Amino acid sequence: MLSRIGRWIDERAHLSELWQSQMVDYKVPKNLTFPYAFGVMAIVAFAIQIISGIFLTMYYQPNIHTAFDSANYTIMKEVPFMWLVRHVHAAGANFFLAIVYLHIFTGIYYNAYKKPRELTWIVGWVIYFVLLVTALTGYLLPWGQLSYWGMVVTAEIPTSIDSAPIIGSLKIGETISILMKGGYEIGQVTIGRFFGLHIWLLPLILLALVSFHLYLVRAAGISNPEGREIDKKKEGVPFHPYITLKEGAYLMGYLAVFFFFVFFYMHHFLPADNYDPADPFKTPAHIAPEWYLLAYYTIFRSIPDKFLGFVAFNLTLVFLLILPLLDFSPIKSARNRPLFFIMFIVLVISSMALTILGTMPPTPTNAMLGLIFTAGLFSFFIALPIISIIEWGWYKAKGGEKQ
Ligand code: HEM
Repeated sequence: MLSRIGRWIDERAHLSELWQSQMVDYKVPKNLTFPYAFGVMAIVAFAIQIISGIFLTMYYQPNIHTAFDSANYTIMKEVPFMWLVRHVHAAGANFFLAIVYLHIFTGIYYNAYKKPRELTWIVGWVIYFVLLVTALTGYLLPWGQLSYWGMVVTAEIPTSIDSAPIIGSLKIGETISILMKGGYEIGQVTIGRFFGLHIWLLPLILLALVSFHLYLVRAAGISNPEGREIDKKKEGVPFHPYITLKEGAYLMGYLAVFFFFVFFYMHHFLPADNYDPADPFKTPAHIAPEWYLLAYYTIFRSIPDKFLGFVAFNLTLVFLLILPLLDFSPIKSARNRPLFFIMFIVLVISSMALTILGTMPPTPTNAMLGLIFTAGLFSFFIALPIISIIEWGWYKAKGGEKQ
């Protein structure tokens, strides 16, 4: 019976033809390594956020008087299993960002931002940026102490622009800060706007961007860990069943780790301080951004001048965006590039150290370490054009042509 219904639908919708052309006839390099699975994991993490988020909106109330209770009482205690949905959404946000970071570092390692994938990289960067804003807007919604005070500190950051010479008098920073809050205070207007952004506008933008990103991945073809473009007819393997099975297995591992945290280690993702309702008269002892913003935060606070600190952390984002321009070497993949590999290690260590330093108090020693690792991070980006020139020399000496 079921197979007859299936055949009836297929004769009309031609879904099996679509599957054959998009999954079986689609050829990818056979030597894709484990980190290539982070892209697929990111798709699943995104789907988990959308589904759990939709259920949360059924009980959450975007109102400063009821938001806290709706999140911590109605959702966590009253409605059966909604605590699980909230756990999945809160842990899911952290896992999603962790996977996206791993995906970005994989792209950097294999130089997947180079021709013909520059646009895939740029769209990916926009996704990353929108994702950070989505996380930021969502963090305010439970209206706990950390939600509130985290936003107080975040909305202060743009005012650093106003301490700059000349442009400072324009008060651009203050205008941005007021725009973020929807007024001079964080209150009903802020929560209303953030709710709209978090549940509708930003996810829709993300959905469109991710679709375009995936289209571009197909259009340009997946890179090869060996750093050369393959002849798909001779060397490629069908995406299904080879990659679907392999990455499907990795995906099961990911979900196992994810649900382990959801059931047993949620205090990492729903910290105790946020179980106190927002109180504008009581500043909590430790206000630090979420881990995925800590590296930027450390760069910002390590530099003694507020304006320069602001410029420095924004510059990190810009460097990331223009990576395809900074690295114009004809050689691809860290496997073939010893100098690049060394700088990649410097990048990884600096990013991790900056993140860890963000959790520590801003003592003079920590500020000095912050400066050293900020320099380490920037040295990666600054070294890329130099490495590219050196590698062009090697490449030409070997009589090679650009791939
Ligand atoms: C919602 C977030 C994202 C999703 C769902 C996603 C999904 C994917 C998938 C499924 C692939 C193909 C498999 C792979 O190479 O891993 C891919 C490739 C790629 N992604 Fe993403 N991605 C996301 C975010 C990003 C970000 C933030 C960047 C960079 C800033 C990025 C840059 C790239 C690049 C350059 C490729 C090509 C990789 C290659 O050919 O080796 N992506 N993405």
